[in-house]
Amino acid sequence: MPDQVPTILAADGDGIARAARLLRDGRLVAVPTETVYGLAADATNETAVARIFAAKGRPGFNPLIVHVPDLSAARRIATVSPEAEALARAFWPGALTLVLPLAPDAGLAPPVTAGLSTVAIRVPAHPVMRALLAEVGRPLAAPSANPSGRMSATTAAHVVDGLGDAVDAVLDAGPCAVGVESTILAPRPEGTRLLREGGLPREAIEAITGPLTADLTPGRVEAPGQMERHYAPRVPLRLGGAAEAGEVVVGFGAGDCDLNLSEAGDLDEAALRLFSVLHEAEAMALDRGAPAIRVPRLPEKGLGRAINDRLQRASTPG
Ligand code: TXA
Ligand code: MG
Repeated sequence: MPDQVPTILAADGDGIARAARLLRDGRLVAVPTETVYGLAADATNETAVARIFAAKGRPGFNPLIVHVPDLSAARRIATVSPEAEALARAFWPGALTLVLPLAPDAGLAPPVTAGLSTVAIRVPAHPVMRALLAEVGRPLAAPSANPSGRMSATTAAHVVDGLGDAVDAVLDAGPCAVGVESTILAPRPEGTRLLREGGLPREAIEAITGPLTADLTPGRVEAPGQMERHYAPRVPLRLGGAAEAGEVVVGFGAGDCDLNLSEAGDLDEAALRLFSVLHEAEAMALDRGAPAIRVPRLPEKGLGRAINDRLQRASTPG
């Protein structure tokens, strides 16, 4: 195996079996989910989990999402209240992460939860990830497969660009279908709190929960990873306003631009293209020495909210 690049595994039975073996051996494997690629390790293995933090350059106070195959597996590591169960039944498997009280005998490696009394759990829908979870037979801790603070990866090539041989293998199932990370909710009897806008539109959730309490304050302990600056390309990103000379211009809907999130003005398409377009815009800007990437603010509805959140955190003030 060359030591410059990770092994790329095909998303077939053999590739999934090899990925499962690596994970059981405490290695890191980048895995496809319907939202973004995850950097997975056995959540019960402390050494393996420590490798995730090292590979991403992620601060130890920022806990990881634990991926499990179904609600009963979630019950083994967390207390699932009736409010949480209603959400799980409506949206799992899918682009939803629930922050729940950690069960005393959960068996997770302590760094996974960064010392919090809660754990973030997700049941992903991607068939390859589901097959992998079944084969590994252990919960998988997986943050997005990008260096900390940078743009998430929605293709195997993004993973390799960002993490190189810090990851042992990439299970390549092609581009992710949703394109932005999961929505994070903290269900409470007194009302469910929204900790991160994401791939599950707020409108769909509120149809079940009623109005959500948004708790999107950057840097709050409740969602340690929601730091203000995040998802940043290596070239300044300017959000909204008129393009200035020399900038790489990203568009949405009809109009002149270098790269378009969705010519049809479709928010779902914009979400699934978001990180690819930003990776491409970054390469273009570096290539032509552009001073910045200019991106429009999108309508605040459906996946537009999650896209605007990512763009806001990626942008350079001023
Ligand atoms: O779609 C996704 O959610 C992807 C795929 C791979 O599942 N994962 C992902 O993970 O986006 P990551 O680590 O990039 O973002 C997880 C977020 C972070 O902001 C982290 O602070 C927050 O979840 N989080 C994790 N555990 C938490 C907890 N116990 N309480 C509050 N927030 C938590
Ligand atoms: Mg992330």
